[in-house]
Amino acid sequence: MAQHTATYSKIISPEEYNRIMTNEHLYIAVADKVIKDFVEKEVCGKTNPEVIEIGCGPARITPLFLQIPNIHLTAIDYDLDFIDHAKKVLKPYNSRVKVVNADVSTYVHSKSIDIFYSQGFHHHVQKGKVTERYLKNIYNQLKDGGAYVLGDENPAAYSNLEDRLLKLIIWYSHIISNAKKLGFNYLAQEEAKTFLDDLYENYDDEAVKSKEQIDLILSWVDKIDEASSEKIDKATFLAENLLEILRKKRNIKEVGDTTVDLSRGDYKISDTEFRKEIENIGFKVEKVERVGPSKDIGGLYIYLLRK
Ligand SMILES: C[S@@+](CC[C@H](N)C(=O)[O-])C[C@H]1O[C@@H](n2cnc3c(N)ncnc32)[C@H](O)[C@@H]1O
Repeated sequence: MAQHTATYSKIISPEEYNRIMTNEHLYIAVADKVIKDFVEKEVCGKTNPEVIEIGCGPARITPLFLQIPNIHLTAIDYDLDFIDHAKKVLKPYNSRVKVVNADVSTYVHSKSIDIFYSQGFHHHVQKGKVTERYLKNIYNQLKDGGAYVLGDENPAAYSNLEDRLLKLIIWYSHIISNAKKLGFNYLAQEEAKTFLDDLYENYDDEAVKSKEQIDLILSWVDKIDEASSEKIDKATFLAENLLEILRKKRNIKEVGDTTVDLSRGDYKISDTEFRKEIENIGFKVEKVERVGPSKDIGGLYIYLLRK
């Protein structure tokens, strides 16, 4: 298992992160707006609702939520460099938002909360007890009837852990191939690295990414994505082949560059598995919207979770 520490900013700079995620990713900006719509509907009619953004990173989406009148916002992340950048981005809104460097699993707010929201955060929290601890912490601080609006990337449903890896290949191939087609080569490369992190998380503790593996993924994604839009079985067959080659090229030697050696700790799960996680805490899925191609390929899911 990769170490889950606050090192995201050692993998990508805050500026580059904000730029590629908002301007280049095929679905993220659309999903951001859906999250905002969900939050806006929730706060409607409430005076000064207490809202917390968890895993805010370098405040990529925070200004969007400050467009909502009256919200009393706090943004939290445990990565100090990202938080420093967030403070700079949010300086013009100083009176309306508080930026806090804290771990979401243990953070305790001074008041009870109307709404928590997060985007692309949930899959970074270590599975099992740590995820449970963070969800319970959120749940306990919500007012009765309060909501957690959560946006995250979900691959298609899988039948077992090996099948999960194939579904991951199909999902990432879609994202990476489209980034390449649009000429966003840096995004394509970062997504290929993220895919490798996801492949090893909870599966292979020692393995680290290599340039050869990244290049291999970049050279396979187009045919896999093309196949997945025609016939999912064909895409699955290609994914099996790619997985086999990647396993043969397993690497345990770091390259000496934190942007490659460190893992983002991604572990993306299907809609089905996600529901089990949150229902176990007591949340109820009240609403869900998918941004993305299809259930067979995956998508960005936005959930309204009710306490
Ligand atoms: C992919 S980034 C998402 C940033 C932002 N939400 C966005 O949509 O651009 C995930 C963020 O979660 C933060 N994070 C992960 N685990 C955390 C934890 N336990 N407490 C606080 N922040 C955490 C990371 O530092 C990182 O900035």
